[in-house]
Amino acid sequence: MKKIALAADHGGYAMKEFVAGYLMANGYEFTDLGCNSEASVDYPDFAHPLATAIQNGDAELGFAFCGSANGITMTLNRHKGVRAAICWQKELASLARAHNNANICSMPGRFINEQTAAEIVDAFLNTQFEGGRHTQRVEKIEL
Ligand code: RB5
Repeated sequence: MKKIALAADHGGYAMKEFVAGYLMANGYEFTDLGCNSEASVDYPDFAHPLATAIQNGDAELGFAFCGSANGITMTLNRHKGVRAAICWQKELASLARAHNNANICSMPGRFINEQTAAEIVDAFLNTQFEGGRHTQRVEKIEL
């Protein structure tokens, strides 16, 4: 069973709650790193703990949410070893895993619906990194 962690700001809170319920209904275990309401918060306060969970092995894969997915993804990708990809349709989630070995899927909570989010979750969790020619490309990302 993959170790999964979730994080969001207030702009992504509602979609995080939906995805948490979807994961639970499908038998996945996960850690919810907040936020815990729609009260205004700063996305780095939730992105950094998610990135740290990936770095230290507490989570293998993550789902991150903010209104646009931009702020939380920018923050996540400052962390070595974290590859967060913004996904707004299932094909992007599949490609993020298959080609980029993404370990965090970021979703724009204000720009997708729940059905799309569920499709993205399935695609991200059920696609493996293809390796091959993509390996050296991914290895060149780190500075
Ligand atoms: C919050 O209003 C919004 O700015 C945030 O969720 C995100 O979209 C930032 O990138």
